[in-house]
Amino acid sequence: MLERIKQMLAEVQTLQAATPEEVEALRIKYLSKKGELAALMNDFRSVAPDLKREVGQRINELKAVTTERINALKSAASAQETTADDVDLTRTPYPVALGTRHPLTIVKNEIVDIFSRMGFTLAEGPEVEDDWHVYSSMNFADDHPARDMQDTFFVEAHPDIILRSHTSSVQARVMERTQPPIRVICPGRVYRNEAVSARAHCFFHQVEGLYIDKQVSFRDLKQVLLLFAQEMFGPETQIRLRPSYFPFTEPSAEMDVSCTICGGKGCSMCKGSGWLEILGCGMVDPAVLEANGIDSTIYSGYAFGMGIERIANLKYQVKDLRLFSENDVRFLEEFRAAN
Ligand code: PHE
Repeated sequence: MLERIKQMLAEVQTLQAATPEEVEALRIKYLSKKGELAALMNDFRSVAPDLKREVGQRINELKAVTTERINALKSAASAQETTADDVDLTRTPYPVALGTRHPLTIVKNEIVDIFSRMGFTLAEGPEVEDDWHVYSSMNFADDHPARDMQDTFFVEAHPDIILRSHTSSVQARVMERTQPPIRVICPGRVYRNEAVSARAHCFFHQVEGLYIDKQVSFRDLKQVLLLFAQEMFGPETQIRLRPSYFPFTEPSAEMDVSCTICGGKGCSMCKGSGWLEILGCGMVDPAVLEANGIDSTIYSGYAFGMGIERIANLKYQVKDLRLFSENDVRFLEEFRAAN
């Protein structure tokens, strides 16, 4: 009897089956009520009592091995069946729910697109920057208030390493490695240490532009910004430049566009003035060119910078800045059509 069990054990370990039908035939042969194992159990009754213990153990072992082998053959055969026959490549797929682009991405893409059509190329740089690229190379005096703890996030224990507070740092990085002509736009996230409210956040997004070549004038700047405003807000849009101050431009200006809601008549959006401020700009200060390795006796240039949230607010009348960073799908879904 023990010899018979041993033989069967060797036999079941080498069983083969290619299809589920063949597996089923094996199962019947070995494991069914009239199968070989049942027959063994029958004969077990006549085993001498002193051998019963060992023979019983061997039979149980054989049963376990057989069941395991047949189960393994079964899953192998059915897996093969699935790949062979069950995949219908012509079946209509389940609909996939598409996401929407973030409103700030939509607006950024639009701004980048308008300036690329005017010949600007994209430049990007790190959000964690050093003081030189954010401030010193941009002509900020050592005691300029923008460096103050109030505005700038410092990396603890590294007073020279900060989170950039504008993407002018990317312009500095472009200037230090490129000689003019330079025509770049620099989109990116910037950080300022402000209390978070509906109207201010500790981070926001900017697009800054830089153009440097021989004989670049304020006229060029004005024309490019007018074209931008009309592409962004419609062909009727007018612009107005007001004198302003930035450490890195001279002269500097702030630009308003005619109100996107009332067209200039005066409404609550423009607080009755007919104008909305959208960006800062100016002629690059010769000190900035020199600090970045560009000869200011040969080259001149202009720069401008705008907040993407601000432009998005004007386009979509988003009243609370915080909505842009909360990822509330009900808010994000509203921009499906704008994608
Ligand atoms: N860097 C300025 C800011 O962050 C924007 C700006 C860029 C103004 C270029 C003038 C010229 O506010």
